[in-house]
Amino acid sequence: MSEVIKARSSWAEPYKMKMVELLKTTTKAHRLKAIQKAGYNTFLLPSEDVYIDLLTDSGTNAMSDRQWSAFMLGDEAYAGSKSYFRLEAAIQKFYGYKYIIPTHQGRGAENILSQVMIKPGQIIPGNMYFTTTRVHQELAGGKFYDIIIEEAHDPNNLHPFKGNIDIQKLDELVKKNGAEKIAYISLASNVNMAGGQPFSMENLKQLHQYTRKHNIQIIHDMTRVAENAYFIQQREPGYRKKSIRQIVKEICSLTDGATMSAKKDALVNIGGFMATNDYKVYEEARNLVVVYEGLHTYGGLAGRDMEAIAVGIEESLDDQHQKARIGQVHYLGNKIKSAGIPIVQPIGGHGVFIDAKSFLPHLPQDLFPAQSLAAELYIESGIRTMERGIVSAGRRPNGENYYPNLELVRLTIPRRVYTQAHMDVIAESVSAVFQRRSRIKGLKMIYEPKYLRFFQATFEKIK
Ligand SMILES: Cc1ncc(COP(=O)(O)O)c(C=O)c1O
Repeated sequence: MSEVIKARSSWAEPYKMKMVELLKTTTKAHRLKAIQKAGYNTFLLPSEDVYIDLLTDSGTNAMSDRQWSAFMLGDEAYAGSKSYFRLEAAIQKFYGYKYIIPTHQGRGAENILSQVMIKPGQIIPGNMYFTTTRVHQELAGGKFYDIIIEEAHDPNNLHPFKGNIDIQKLDELVKKNGAEKIAYISLASNVNMAGGQPFSMENLKQLHQYTRKHNIQIIHDMTRVAENAYFIQQREPGYRKKSIRQIVKEICSLTDGATMSAKKDALVNIGGFMATNDYKVYEEARNLVVVYEGLHTYGGLAGRDMEAIAVGIEESLDDQHQKARIGQVHYLGNKIKSAGIPIVQPIGGHGVFIDAKSFLPHLPQDLFPAQSLAAELYIESGIRTMERGIVSAGRRPNGENYYPNLELVRLTIPRRVYTQAHMDVIAESVSAVFQRRSRIKGLKMIYEPKYLRFFQATFEKIK
């Protein structure tokens, strides 16, 4: 499969800059101290000590002038805010879901949805776990089962739709446990943990057909649905002439409900929502949201945030926006790949994922190769990345470590923030660490929090 977008050719950002944020550079000596103080966990670095921040694409977007001006229209009424109705209308128009509940961010929606839809002992099959999604499923008494296609676990496999669900694996689960034991299918678009990999519309249609027969709902983690739609447009027969807007609407129409972290696709700095077509689910969630987030017409968000999301949703569905956004990610990925550095292929939508197992083949997974590599990249040049491997995977409810096949460092590209020259600097920094990779000795975990340990765990260097 050839890369969808070759190294920079005809794309360019469909915007220009009218305000900039100055960056700070630091010395290597400063960075050595800073990362040691942060316990070799890039989440614990003060952002002041970071030069190019690729920690996440979550909430790090640059908003447009239209979004900033929508901020001023925010209706901050506690109940029945005009901004809520504008957000509801945007979600109904562009995604097509019937009922919506705003939440402070994605995990707020995951909490409520899991509590409403999962009975203790039930199973939630999904296309690879996501950290916060799985933890809420488990806290609600459910058990997650990974039913993504096998190709997704192989960083070198060039399958164009590594986010696909293996319907046979699902069928085996249903036959073994009975459909009533399945709480719902947890379907993520552009699967984060697999490297930002899409599912195909064909796979979703098959899944839809299967679940209609067995009376199982599909709950869509639509955090990166527009990026998934871009890959369908570029790769799937019959979709070349369809707009991202049309494809997104079609994806949503084949699912029963959704959770969304608006901090990604929807181009804002905070916010999320839960959506459903099932009135019973809505009714219960609408009641529960007042316990955790706020009244159902603001769900933990200011009116201005809801306004910015409504505008951001529309901007995210623009074909030129996605072409430039994913074009930039692929520009960086191709540059790193052409330096002989192992990355997850095909290159995904929201970042370049370095295969730390191949980058540091001398380090066993218990010495945290991806965590070590993220720390070294920071020391090299002040670029902040994050681990997506054994630390992120955490432990099973019985306390055993998960050992994921993929041990990755994620170079996540914030939307509309960095330039092509920044991409060049990043690629050069990764190459510099690659040259000295044999001298990297790994890390030992010295503090491990109980939940989502990757955020706060600390490490020390193996001497
Ligand atoms: C696929 C996916 N789902 C859910 C979430 C959780 O969203 P939030 O960080 O807004 O709570 C994220 C955030 O990184 C994500 O990438």
